[in-house]
Amino acid sequence: MKWRDDADSYGLVSKTLHWGMALLFLWQFGGMLLKLVVGRVPWMGFWVGTHASVGTALLALMLARALWAVGQRRRRPPYHAGTVGRLAALGHGALYLLMFVVPALALLRLFGGGREVRLFGVLLREGGGERVAWMVQPATLLHGVLAWLLLALIAGHVAMVFVHRFGWKDDILRRML
Ligand code: HEM
Ligand code: HEM
Repeated sequence: MKWRDDADSYGLVSKTLHWGMALLFLWQFGGMLLKLVVGRVPWMGFWVGTHASVGTALLALMLARALWAVGQRRRRPPYHAGTVGRLAALGHGALYLLMFVVPALALLRLFGGGREVRLFGVLLREGGGERVAWMVQPATLLHGVLAWLLLALIAGHVAMVFVHRFGWKDDILRRML
């Protein structure tokens, strides 16, 4: 098993980051979708309670993944020539952008909110601080909206994998499996 990417397929590091993060996104969106459907009932407390920590882990993994992607950019399986390839590159770029902005705005709000900050069970700051409006407002306006946009893009991304597989029959999924 190769570590790095090559023209034929992604390597172990890219695959682990891709599928590991996909699982964490499933947890993250699953919790929020369930909260919307059933409300904040007691048995969901643990799930929703992990949201900030899992989101922070996703941001850290995203930064590692972006650095790795830059390092591997000349080795990776190439995009299709022409418009289809350009759209795919644009779609992946948009996924990276939202994977950064969505948790980054929420963390800014967390640290600007004046309340206790606890991540991964570790107390990082006591509560009772001042609420800083410019740190809180962007996430209040955009965190939820952009997160749902990210989910829509992920759905489009997965749909395109099916179009490649069953429509164009150029089995792109194999590169990532
Ligand atoms: C990539 C990571 C993340 C994703 C995909 C994500 C996704 C979501 C979604 C879908 C909602 C529901 C919005 C609604 O009810 O319409 C939400 C709400 C929320 N998230 Fe996140 N989140 C992430 C990271 C974070 C982080 C790191 C924090 C805290 C530091 C956080 C704090 C919150 C809070 C407090 C809410 C409820 C208030 C609001 O809707 O803005 N999230 N998140
Ligand atoms: C069932 C879920 C998923 C499937 C079947 C899937 C499939 C794939 C495949 C086949 C590729 C390779 C495309 C190519 O070589 O052009 C790929 C790449 C990619 N996927 Fe997914 N994916 C899934 C979930 C996700 C999720 C949840 C995200 C992030 C939010 C994501 C983000 C990306 C990105 C950014 C790339 C470009 C390569 C990279 O930088 O890692 N995917 N995906």
